[in-house]
Amino acid sequence: MIVNAAAYTSMDRAEADIENAYAVNATAVGILAEEALALGSLLVHYSTDCVFDGCQTTPYAETDAVNPVSVYGKSKLAGEQAIAEVAPTALILRTSWVAGIHGNNFVKTMLRLGAMQPALRVVGDRFGAPTGAALVADVTAQIVARAWLLGDSGAFAAGIYHLAAAGETSWHGYASEVLRYAAAQGAVLKTDPDRIEEIAASDYPLPAPRPANARLDTAKIRRTFGIHLPDWRMGVHHLLDQFLA
Ligand SMILES: NC(=O)c1ccc[n+]([C@@H]2O[C@H](COP(=O)([O-])OP(=O)(O)OC[C@H]3O[C@@H](n4cnc5c(N)ncnc54)[C@H](OP(=O)(O)O)[C@@H]3O)[C@@H](O)[C@H]2O)c1
Repeated sequence: MIVNAAAYTSMDRAEADIENAYAVNATAVGILAEEALALGSLLVHYSTDCVFDGCQTTPYAETDAVNPVSVYGKSKLAGEQAIAEVAPTALILRTSWVAGIHGNNFVKTMLRLGAMQPALRVVGDRFGAPTGAALVADVTAQIVARAWLLGDSGAFAAGIYHLAAAGETSWHGYASEVLRYAAAQGAVLKTDPDRIEEIAASDYPLPAPRPANARLDTAKIRRTFGIHLPDWRMGVHHLLDQFLA
C-alpha cells in the first residue's frame, strides 16, 4: 500500500508558486498512482474541502460539484483527477481543518497568542469541523486493515470519501474552545477565552481565498466502513492534553 500525506499545503504561498504546487499536488500524485497500478498496490491519498468553492449552505457530499477557488484547491483537485485517470484501486480521503501534534497549526497559534495578547480577533463567518490528525490516522488504519484483510476484493472501497470529525464550528468557536479548555487545564492566558472578538473573513484578508463552508458530509465513510466519528471537541481536547502535559 502507498499512503500519501505529502502535499504542497501552504495555501497562500501556492497562489504565487503555481508550478511547484501543481508539481507536488498533481504531477507527483499521478506518478504515485502509476506506481500503485504497476505494483498492484492500494493507494491512499489525502485531499481537501478546498476542492469546493464553499458557497453551498449544507455540508458537502462526495457527489457535490467541485469548484476550487484557490491554486491549492485547484492543484489538489488535479491530483484527484490524476488518480482517476490512472484508475488504480485508490482511496481518496478528503479532510478539513486538520491539526496534530507536529508542525504548525491553529491550536498551537491560538495557545501562543492567547498566552501573549490580552485581545484576540478571530474569523467567525467560516465554518468547518476541526479534525485531529490522530483521527485521520486512526480511520485510515481501520480502512487499510479492512482492505488488507479483504485482499483484492478490497476494491469495493475504492473512491472518494469525506473524513472529518462530527459537529461544526467557526474559527472563532474553535479558538474559544481551545482557550477555554487550556484555561481549565491551568494554562496561564492573557486572553479571556469568552472575550475573543469575532470578525468577518473580509476583515482578515489573505492571499488565497478560503471556502466559507468547509463542512464535509461524512455519511458515506461512516456507512461504508461502519466507523464512528467523534465530535470535533474530543480531538481538540486530546491534542491540548498532549500540548499542556
Ligand atoms: N492540514 C489541513 O488542515 C488539511 C486539510 C485538508 C486536507 N489536508 C491534506 O492532508 C494532507 C496532509 O496535510 P498536512 O496538514 O499534514 O500538511 P503538512 O503538515 O504541510 O505536511 C505535508 C508534508 O508533505 C511533505 N512534502 C511537501 N512537499 C514535498 C515534496 N516535494 N517531496 C516530499 N515531501 C514533500 C512535507 O515535508 P517537509 O516537512 O519536509 O516539508 C510535509 O511533511 C495533504 O494532502 C493535505 O492536502 C490537510
